[in-house]
Amino acid sequence: MSFAHRHLLGIEPLSPSDIQSILDLADTYVDLNRQPTKHSDALAGLTQINMFFEASTRTQASFELAGKRLGADVMNMAMQASSLKKGETLIDTALTLNAMHPDLLVVRHPHSGAVDLLAQKVNCAVLNAGDGRHEHPTQALLDALTIRRKKGRLHRLNIAICGDIAHSRVARSNILLLGKMESRIRLIGPPTLMPAQIAEFGVEVYDDMAEGLKDVDVVMMLRLQKERMDGGFIPSEREYFYRYGLDAEKLANAKDDAIVMHPGPMNRGVEIDGEIADDINRSVIQEQVEMGVAVRMAAMDLLAHNLRAARAGDAA
Ligand code: NCD
Repeated sequence: MSFAHRHLLGIEPLSPSDIQSILDLADTYVDLNRQPTKHSDALAGLTQINMFFEASTRTQASFELAGKRLGADVMNMAMQASSLKKGETLIDTALTLNAMHPDLLVVRHPHSGAVDLLAQKVNCAVLNAGDGRHEHPTQALLDALTIRRKKGRLHRLNIAICGDIAHSRVARSNILLLGKMESRIRLIGPPTLMPAQIAEFGVEVYDDMAEGLKDVDVVMMLRLQKERMDGGFIPSEREYFYRYGLDAEKLANAKDDAIVMHPGPMNRGVEIDGEIADDINRSVIQEQVEMGVAVRMAAMDLLAHNLRAARAGDAA
């Protein structure tokens, strides 16, 4: 396996073979997670601290479970209720935690770039669990694992990413990953929700769902990120659903065996029709959650391996 990285801060620095290494190892963890006894000692003796500066249910639970299944000592810090409120800077918080000798730090932060900055100040492995609109690498990796297992490959697929692209770190990480793996990406959404520098991404852009979904293999829906919008980006949720919400009629434009994805949490009736989300023949939303635990186990396993090797090198 090749994965020569100290941290997992984004998809951007990863090579196609790095991505393959994580996904191959994750496949073995999917098998482990389906066993009655789900345990390995890959992280035994290591301390994992989850620092979430932004509310999260599924990503935090997924990282916690991943660490526990690999035998790490896992601690969750509720950062919203912590010293930050008392005026401590991100760097001081990081240095304080660093003094407790963690081995893996899992960080989510509302500001793009905050996790990279933190990684420069600590001497453990840092995993980005989502920073602002920047990156959410484990989400893109779990999406890739889901696609690879359903479609048998990651190259030469037509993949539509739909909705609020501008505010989405999930979209950004997925565009980077799927581009590296040589799939063709279409972005579909209202012009107000497209990032300004969209031309740089090497993607096709549509503002019509029927046109954009034509013959795609994968339909990836995104949540309207209302918490990141300052002002009116859409006329109304009803109007948005009418034009951009995924329903059976719009989905009929995609290939017959196209899969439907959503990173969660979903707004039913806003970006996706509830019946499509629950249709087990089309929707792989629950599989995505399952793949998430396995991908996070794989990523932490690879980083822990590198961390141990680096420490052994320092000690020699
Ligand atoms: C995503 C996130 O936080 O960026 N959700 C997640 O990781 N479960 C997407 C979203 O919030 O819409």
